[in-house]
Amino acid sequence: MKTVITICDTCKHDDWAARGMEKTDGERLAALIEAAAADEPLLETRRHSCLMGCERACNIAIQAEGKLTYVLGRFEVDEASALAIVEYARKHAESDSGQVPFRSWPQGVKGHFVARLPQLGGTD
Ligand code: FES
Repeated sequence: MKTVITICDTCKHDDWAARGMEKTDGERLAALIEAAAADEPLLETRRHSCLMGCERACNIAIQAEGKLTYVLGRFEVDEASALAIVEYARKHAESDSGQVPFRSWPQGVKGHFVARLPQLGGTD
C-alpha cells in the first residue's frame, strides 16, 4: 500500500507577489518533493489546488488507505523541506497504522503538524 503525498500547488507565502514569482510557492515545493520521491517505491505524489490552509503555506497531506492521515503546513520552499517530507512519508508507508514514533521524525517536519485524521471505518 503506497503512501500519497498531496501537495497544494496554489500555496503562496505572503511575499510571493513582491518576489515576482511566475510559479506559486506550492508549485515550486511540489517540484522539489516530486524529485525527492521519484525513486521511492512506497510513495506517490499528487498536486491539488488548495487544502484550505492558505494562511499557513506551504501545505501538504500524507495519506494511505487504512492509515492515519496527517496534514502539515508552514513549509519553506527548499530541498531540506522536501527531503524531510519524503522521509516522513516513507516512514508513514512503512508503518502499519501510519503513526511514526516521535523519535523517528525527521527534524524538518517538527513544528509543521496541523491535523491528524483517523482512517475511515477504523477504530484508531
Ligand atoms: S492555497 Fe494552499 S492551502 Fe489554500
